[in-house]
Amino acid sequence: LGLATTAAGAAPGEQPDRAQPAERAQPSEQGRPVLGDDGAGDPYFPLAGNGGIDVDHYSLDLTYTPPEAAPAPLEGHLEGVATIRLTTTEKLRRFNLDLRGPEVSQVRIDGKRTRFAQVENELQVWARGLLHQGEEVEVEVFYEATTTRPTDIEGALYGWVTTRDGAMVVSEPDGSATWFPVSDHPTDKATYDFEITVPDGLVAVANGVLEDESSEDGWTTWTWDAPDPMAAYLATATVGDFELTTTTGPDGIPIIDAIDPALPPANSADLTRTPEMLEFFAERYGPYPFVSYGAIVDDDSVGYALETQTRSFFSVRAREGTVAHELAHQWMGNHVSPGRWADIWLNEGWASYSTWMWNEHDGDATAQESFEQVMAIPADNGFWSVVVADPGSLCLFCGAIYDRGAATLHALRGEIGDDAFFELAQQWVATYGGGTATTADFEALAEEVSGQDLTTFFDVWVHQPVKPTEW
Ligand code: ARG
Ligand code: ZN
Repeated sequence: LGLATTAAGAAPGEQPDRAQPAERAQPSEQGRPVLGDDGAGDPYFPLAGNGGIDVDHYSLDLTYTPPEAAPAPLEGHLEGVATIRLTTTEKLRRFNLDLRGPEVSQVRIDGKRTRFAQVENELQVWARGLLHQGEEVEVEVFYEATTTRPTDIEGALYGWVTTRDGAMVVSEPDGSATWFPVSDHPTDKATYDFEITVPDGLVAVANGVLEDESSEDGWTTWTWDAPDPMAAYLATATVGDFELTTTTGPDGIPIIDAIDPALPPANSADLTRTPEMLEFFAERYGPYPFVSYGAIVDDDSVGYALETQTRSFFSVRAREGTVAHELAHQWMGNHVSPGRWADIWLNEGWASYSTWMWNEHDGDATAQESFEQVMAIPADNGFWSVVVADPGSLCLFCGAIYDRGAATLHALRGEIGDDAFFELAQQWVATYGGGTATTADFEALAEEVSGQDLTTFFDVWVHQPVKPTEW
């Protein structure tokens, strides 16, 4: 696929050639109209996100027919209307959305049909006339797709993954484009609502809160509202045989779980401690930032869990540590999201460190013991050759991102002391919540809160491909 090839060929920090150089956007000098850029400028995923637009809201109206019956190939059918409210950030002749796979039949701007083209994984939309900078427009995209089981740049299943009874929808880092036209970069957060129509008997689970469930002619429509700003990779519309339960967690937070009843409890996720974990992390990071929480536990597997916003996704057999990890991501990764994919250690390091702290709280290994386990890895092990703050697009989920990331935070805690460390955690969430932040932002805030010069500390821990020698 075009996107994967382009990004894979790029060395970290290097800008690979983009598609169609002749059509690259020009800066809009003197208000000259431009073609919106085909990417948000992330060196790891140059075509992810788009220039010239800022999406405010996605309204996704999906009708999904799961595969007829096993065995493979697993193919479903998805029909969608995406209504996208956006604001232009430049004077535009044309702008792009990301879309990989689905075929578009019609695009409308403010209710009127307009010209479009699908060029590889970009949907180009021409304005009728020109759009001024700062204009609010409503874009409707009508599309359909035969769904399969797409994979990411590293070969892991992601995006709209067709299952026997529906679909598992988990899109980190850039898989949202497999199921809706999107500005697919964390720097363009938006609010969402979903109307997902599936055959009676199946459940469609999305982010936020369930607003309505209604049935007609053998089809059930599930309406979900997700009013908290969300990065596209955290959106889900998982479909299948699920048992939905709603309970009330601490501070009245609704906890909406969707559990596949085909899973015997021993193979399911260990969700029993979720309310206690919500309290534990709220004490450390500040109030839980979203309208609801909950889990999706599916009987098929993508091989990992994902912190889908307000509704963490687990495949079979998620242990308590993983459950804590995905919950902690709601603050660290979801509310504060990476400004560039190179900053992924801030997601995974914080979530992993959160599990270390939970384990200690629970009477298991202390954070210090977990730290020592990481530091016991010999210096010549490849683990230490990852530059944590610039791992490259093929190493977003390498072990070092998680474990050296967590060790970095533990070492930082030792360096600046508990008071400054937890003040930093709270300020990080309070300052950047609802948006994105980078490693440079984190370093600056850590120095500000602690009053210490941490240049050498961060250089050794996240910018060098060698094991730190002192800690
Ligand atoms: N963020 C997920 C986690 O908490 C991992 C996602 C892995 N994604 C992938 N495409 N391999 O751990
Ligand atoms: Zn994680």
